[in-house]
Amino acid sequence: MKTAITELFGIEHPIIQGGMHFVGFAELAAAVSNAGGLGIITGLTQKTPELLAKEIARCRDMTDRPFGVNLTFLPTFAAPPYPEYIAAIVEGGIKAVETAGRSPEQYMPALKAAGIKVIHKCTSVRHSLKAERIGCDAVSVDGFECGGHPGEDDIPNMILLPRAAEELKIPFVASGGMADGRSLVAALSLGAAGMNMGTRFIATREAPVHQNVKDALVAATELDTRLIMRALRNTERVLKNANVDRLLEIEREKGAKLTIDDIHDQVAGVYPKIMLDGQMDAGAWSCGMVAGLIHDIPTCKELIDRVMGEAEQIIRSRLLGFLDGTSATRKVA
Ligand SMILES: Cc1cc2nc3c(=O)[nH]c(=O)nc-3n(C[C@H](O)[C@H](O)[C@H](O)COP(=O)(O)O)c2cc1C
Repeated sequence: MKTAITELFGIEHPIIQGGMHFVGFAELAAAVSNAGGLGIITGLTQKTPELLAKEIARCRDMTDRPFGVNLTFLPTFAAPPYPEYIAAIVEGGIKAVETAGRSPEQYMPALKAAGIKVIHKCTSVRHSLKAERIGCDAVSVDGFECGGHPGEDDIPNMILLPRAAEELKIPFVASGGMADGRSLVAALSLGAAGMNMGTRFIATREAPVHQNVKDALVAATELDTRLIMRALRNTERVLKNANVDRLLEIEREKGAKLTIDDIHDQVAGVYPKIMLDGQMDAGAWSCGMVAGLIHDIPTCKELIDRVMGEAEQIIRSRLLGFLDGTSATRKVA
């Protein structure tokens, strides 16, 4: 399949693996890229720019296909040394960067000077338009369903994607709730040129996370995520667990007076405990509603081949069949 996104990034399939803290290591990025998608290393999971340089080199040893790096611009005063991280990306020969969080505007000249294609993850049409204005090559439009930070507008992809299509000139991928060939065809129908998957890629054989995390995703349903930190305007969609229940109790008690210190134990330093040690109740970790569509733990190649096969089947058989009348009595593809 060829779309503006496959052409922009030089990849076979219009499927991107979103950056994920303590998940997006070289093993996963290389597996996604080897399967024809765009794998992404999560920059800030590497504690220093030097470690990121090593992770890029490790990934380069595992794939000769294009892969990218995620740079998340955090709403923090003690900002990581972003210029040094960007230097590691440039020197590592990376040609695709997924930015997220705050606007990447001040770093665009450095990224563009190095010939890097920038895809910015946005949860609203207005942020997508800003990304277009500052020179991003593409946008990842992240609907309310998504795992991680859906923003504060709560617009699901059924509305957000066609709204983005109405306004944007640059290509965009659908992000949030994407799992299979049905998601891809729906995304293409709504105006996207591909899709970005986060949560779905955690439940793959190559994702270098504890088996408990993958099993939790297979066991979870679409009803099992919760929104936290709304009062801080830093909303995050996470998988429900004992510590998230406790956090929500604290949020109810404190109301608008909530501060980050009130929930420090539930959110700080949680990722290594969950992702590496498999302590599933250690605290809040990002997870999308798409968990309800995750029923197995395939390899990245099996997953991507299945997505593309299903998408082709839906387009060629189910959809064309509606036009010529042969799909009329079939409930599913
Ligand atoms: C465990 C986890 C960690 C994530 N960490 C990051 C991150 O560090 N930076 C970022 O830009 N997005 C992060 N995300 C968001 C994903 O890149 C992606 O946008 C999101 O998962 C898409 O929604 P989906 O989970 O429904 O596919 C994370 C998502 C998950 C599930």
